[in-house]
Amino acid sequence: MDDALPPAEPFRIKAVEGIRRLTRDQRLRALEAAHHNLFLLKSEDVYIDLLTDSGTGAMSDRQWAAMMAGDEAYAGSRSFDRLAESASEVMGFPYLIPAHQGRGAEHVLFSALVAPGQQVIGNVHFDTTRAHIEHRQAVALDLAVEEIYDAQDRSPFKGNLDVERAEAHIRGVGRDAVPLILVTVTCNSGGGQPVSMANLTAVRALADRWGIPFFLDACRFAENAYFIQQREPGYAGRTVASIAREMCNLADGCTFSAKKDGLANIGGFVAFRDASLYQKAIPWAILFEGFLTYGGLAGRDLEAIAVGLKEVVEQPYLEWRIGQVARLADGLRAAGVPLVEPAGGHAVFLDARRFLPHVPQTAYPAQSLACELYADGGVRGVEVGGVMAGRDPKTGQERFPRLEMVRLAVPRRVYTDAHMAVVVEAARLTLASSARIGGLRIVHEPPVLRHFSARFAPVPLSDLPRSPETRAARGS
Ligand code: F0G
Repeated sequence: MDDALPPAEPFRIKAVEGIRRLTRDQRLRALEAAHHNLFLLKSEDVYIDLLTDSGTGAMSDRQWAAMMAGDEAYAGSRSFDRLAESASEVMGFPYLIPAHQGRGAEHVLFSALVAPGQQVIGNVHFDTTRAHIEHRQAVALDLAVEEIYDAQDRSPFKGNLDVERAEAHIRGVGRDAVPLILVTVTCNSGGGQPVSMANLTAVRALADRWGIPFFLDACRFAENAYFIQQREPGYAGRTVASIAREMCNLADGCTFSAKKDGLANIGGFVAFRDASLYQKAIPWAILFEGFLTYGGLAGRDLEAIAVGLKEVVEQPYLEWRIGQVARLADGLRAAGVPLVEPAGGHAVFLDARRFLPHVPQTAYPAQSLACELYADGGVRGVEVGGVMAGRDPKTGQERFPRLEMVRLAVPRRVYTDAHMAVVVEAARLTLASSARIGGLRIVHEPPVLRHFSARFAPVPLSDLPRSPETRAARGS
């Protein structure tokens, strides 16, 4: 990009979708009707939807054109070949099984590799990943480096796995208790933080020492590769495509949600380097996802992903994409909004502990903050805190994570910087009234993945437990 010119979208817009802004009163009514759970809002009641960057991106004209060439054959579809070729070119894995989305890929992989009582080591497992591991009656163990839990630490690769602790753990429980190591790039549940090539190389060596397969959760592999290019010594002159390939070369395979760095609205896959692991997965894939050349997708979906995988590693796209998220973070920071630092690749995370220091974790401060932001600006984010962390499947106790965050995930190629300016203003309004914001309590709770459908009722400020922080915040 020419440094003398301001950054702008490396595309022009060929189709548009109208959005509308409700009044504050209408938004408050919508919030009530959704039981203070933003997943239960109607999307047309949301002005700027930063709930997720998953499946919400805009496809390119080349992707739409490729979709017309979809081969809808049940078996041996040409579209499957095109996807397998594209994935092999971009990631280098020779064996690929499509899945309807990332969690479908997780279901297949863990059914093949994970037995009850085993432990899957990762940096911070995503919630569906954790739920699928627990569904296998196994344990999802988070062993990210300590920096990830400090919202103010600005280390460049806070998504790294703590290889020493992982090794000590393997030594303690024994090699057979660990069916695979799964490193999520970028580390979504840890603030969208990247993992360095040095760390992936160390994980490879660890996996080799113990003979344990090493997989990537590659949902945001291109964004991770871009951060390596920007931040890791020795990578500045390399293309993102070659860095992405080098990352994948270190792994035995990956799970992938094409709804993120596949630039598609649906789809995913599980990929393998090794024929024997691939063979193990086949029966599960057919049982859960469909025949091996479609995996729960239409041929046209496979085509869209095949093209998306190549577009996502293009430098101008990534520069603009990660730049837009960084500009959103800059605006919020300048407005005094407490953030988890540094900004992630796909999202900015608000630090709810510092935003609402008077709301104890038992009253779900991040959930409450997400609701207020919707009320103030029609902006929908998502809680990544105590609600999402749910309960320990064994004890039934709530597990309160160390970070209470609201994630503002930016869909790919969808919103302009003018929209981001509205998000900043909404957060400024919420911040101005933060001392008056109370908490929430759960009035209905499903047994797994509760954040998607739990219902809440407000806990007014006067009913919150008066912790030391509460007293300080209220000046009493
Ligand atoms: N792994 C990671 C790191 C994810 O972020 C997701 C989804 C998945 C796996 C599962 O993929 O949705 O295609 O089944 N993340 C979305 C999000 C839902 O909002 O972050 P999926």
